Amino acid sequence: MGFQKVVRHACLAVTVVLSFGASAMAEVKGSVEAGAKKNSMCIGCHGIPNYKTAYPVLYRVPKIAGQNYEYLVSSLNAYRNGERAHPSMVAVSKTLTDQDIADLSAFYAAGVR
Ligand code: HEC
Repeated sequence: MGFQKVVRHACLAVTVVLSFGASAMAEVKGSVEAGAKKNSMCIGCHGIPNYKTAYPVLYRVPKIAGQNYEYLVSSLNAYRNGERAHPSMVAVSKTLTDQDIADLSAFYAAGVR
């Protein structure tokens, strides 16, 4: 009988953890202020006049300021999971959490820079 009680408790704990995890995922919302503090590694490429970079070769960097929030989130996820291939963006996006992606997307969607 004691054992059954323990099992029941364990199941309850698992259910709680799972539902908490699910709601935490759904609640990832971007914050413009937080994104503004996280963009230091983006502005080297995305914040320069004319959107060109000279390193490693001269290439054009797309303008992301003012882009649609969902579009930014999905393209960053696409680089991170390998659907979109670009060496710099894949490397950068792998360092980002879901929250970072949401914050940066909110920041750039606000079109500040
Ligand atoms: C080393 C330069 C570099 C850095 C640093 C960099 N990017 Fe990029 N980014 C690029 C280039 C080049 C592309 C275009 C790649 C391609 O053709 O897929 C790009 C593409 C993107 C796109 C897709 C744009 C589109 O129109 O589809 C997003 C979104 C983006 N970057 C966000 C970011 C964010 C956010 C950061 C900082 C966390 C960042 N990038 C850092 C160079 C960079």
